[in-house]
Amino acid sequence: MIFRQLFDGASSTYSYLLASRRGGEALIIDPVIDRVERYLQLIGELDLRLVKAVDTHVHADHITGLGALRDRTHCITVMGEAARVDVVSMRVSEGDRLTIEGLSLDVLYTPGHTDDSYSLLMGDRVFTGDTLLIRGTGRTDFQNGSARAQYDSLFNKLLKLPDETLVYPAHDYKGDTVSTIGEEKAFNPRLQVTSVDEYVQLMGGLNLPNPKMMDVAVPANLRVGLAQDEIARRGWALTAAQAIALVGQASVTLIDLRERGEREKHGLIPGSLHAPYPDLAVNVRPGGMLHELSRATDKPMVFYCAFGERSAMAVQAAQDVGITAACHIHGGIDAWRRANGPLVRESR
Ligand SMILES: [Fe+2]
Repeated sequence: MIFRQLFDGASSTYSYLLASRRGGEALIIDPVIDRVERYLQLIGELDLRLVKAVDTHVHADHITGLGALRDRTHCITVMGEAARVDVVSMRVSEGDRLTIEGLSLDVLYTPGHTDDSYSLLMGDRVFTGDTLLIRGTGRTDFQNGSARAQYDSLFNKLLKLPDETLVYPAHDYKGDTVSTIGEEKAFNPRLQVTSVDEYVQLMGGLNLPNPKMMDVAVPANLRVGLAQDEIARRGWALTAAQAIALVGQASVTLIDLRERGEREKHGLIPGSLHAPYPDLAVNVRPGGMLHELSRATDKPMVFYCAFGERSAMAVQAAQDVGITAACHIHGGIDAWRRANGPLVRESR
């Protein structure tokens, strides 16, 4: 496995680059915008293909690298369902699995530092965001934080993991890089409380100044979505209502770019084909399944995904290789559902 802990000195943020092998797919957790060039250089040096960029929560102390990485690599941006960001490519919730080639991360909802804080468990290690820090815990006094919720996330979720589980936080201000659940249980001063009320009192008495970047970072981090308007301006977008009218008609090919887990969880548009986004580049080039299908049938292709972000990138990729009869559903399945579009479950 390739596992790189990367540090942004200005915000004391740790980001993590993961891959199962050289030359394979990669995922990055909590990237910082100022470090994007460095990540891309390393990704290139290790011959990796970045397919997912994940934020554990909306950060207040630095601007996320999610949007810049998506624009540069066409990777999928991922956040939790509770995050109030405008658009990400994929949202996850408790119990979901975040996967790339050869690696799988279990999603744990661990609110408290913010109400959109998630942790990611990968085998012997857990990425705790700002929920559990080394000898500390994330502050709970803004962004809908709650010391009570954090106590629950810590004591009833993270600290229930095996003692030897490695703890990789999103920040460290003292130079520590990794800890374990057992070590934090024993030595983290915030965890030496005997009740939730004691923890709430402890967190309520911290009186911390607001992060320097907060007024800039939070608004910026709430707007990470790809500008789908540009795709619409070029006439490459259908509204959900326009797309609903096409269901059951043989005049177009509807193509679902989501992953199997998303299809099982949210349902799919009747009659659509499944062509997952990570395989898109192969599928749309000459000889690829979608390229040849488009040539053989001469039908317009209508891409869709969860929120319209992957499908917007797919339209651009298809247009780039000469599939001019390609468009997408603006806003994805999310918009489709709000327009009462029909959804079916995949038969197994
Ligand atoms: Fe944070």
